Amino acid sequence: MEVLSTKENILILIKEIKAQNKSVGFVPTMGALHNGHLSLVRKALNENDEVIVSIFVNPTQFNKKEDLEKYPRDLECDINLLKTLSNNNIIIYTPSINDIYGANIKALKFDFDGLENEMEGKFRPGHFDGVGTVVKRLFEIVKPDSAYFGEKDFQQLQIIKKLVEKFQLSVKVIGCEIYREENGLALSSRNQHLKSEQKKAAPTIFKILKEAKEKFRKQSAKKITDWVIKEFAKQKLLKLEYFIIADVKTLKENKIKSSKKSYRAFIAVYADTVRLIDNIALN
Ligand code: PAJ
Repeated sequence: MEVLSTKENILILIKEIKAQNKSVGFVPTMGALHNGHLSLVRKALNENDEVIVSIFVNPTQFNKKEDLEKYPRDLECDINLLKTLSNNNIIIYTPSINDIYGANIKALKFDFDGLENEMEGKFRPGHFDGVGTVVKRLFEIVKPDSAYFGEKDFQQLQIIKKLVEKFQLSVKVIGCEIYREENGLALSSRNQHLKSEQKKAAPTIFKILKEAKEKFRKQSAKKITDWVIKEFAKQKLLKLEYFIIADVKTLKENKIKSSKKSYRAFIAVYADTVRLIDNIALN
């Protein structure tokens, strides 16, 4: 398995791949890989000749310095996990800060038609400028045919689609299903920070989302939201930050249900200092 850490080397390799008319799938990550990430890589392997996985902990998308510092990093372990999928068709790219930012580690400013101001954008100011900056730069370097993003970060997925549309980039953005533990907890690199009691409580998040989906057939968004707030008030170890039923296109909170639109419920919850997000399709 090739592990490349410079832009020069990855550019040479990509040129070779393209010269052979092979398709390139791309899975951008921040490392600390788990089965959620691997499900994206698996899909990319099924649909492309070669798959590039980038591992880069992007400083500009963290709005809290301590989150960036405590972000788990273990390249050796990530390489070994990827090797279990394929030894031949995966290329790992671990760019340097310089590859992505040059001398100026700063996010660009984006207008994603308001998608960036909802939910995660409200609670993590500047986050999507950081994400947009790194992904745009990575797309420029890797020039993939297809890029794979998890629905776990549904707002991010919609924003990347908007980025591609706005800058007319020739990459197909593919959304991938949320990979969950058997108990329903969505896999996340943050789960490793959960203490054992919190780990036991965390599957409640998906349980409540599933019940919200059930209720959505008959009840208003307002009624469901009030119910979710009440359910979390009973939880000792989980603190609700937001629960929102939103139109998947605009990500704006839904007030009046329309049968022509698709909706999702989005949730962010704290287990002490660990912030967990999840979402579910409602119709
Ligand atoms: P990271 O959190 O490492 O996630 C990389 C990709 O894996 C994202 O597309 C994310 O949605 C997906 N993913 C994470 N957990 C998942 C799960 N349980 N099921 C399915 N997919 C899952 O997201 C980022 O990195 C960064 O913001 C990045 C796009 C790399 C830009 O820095």
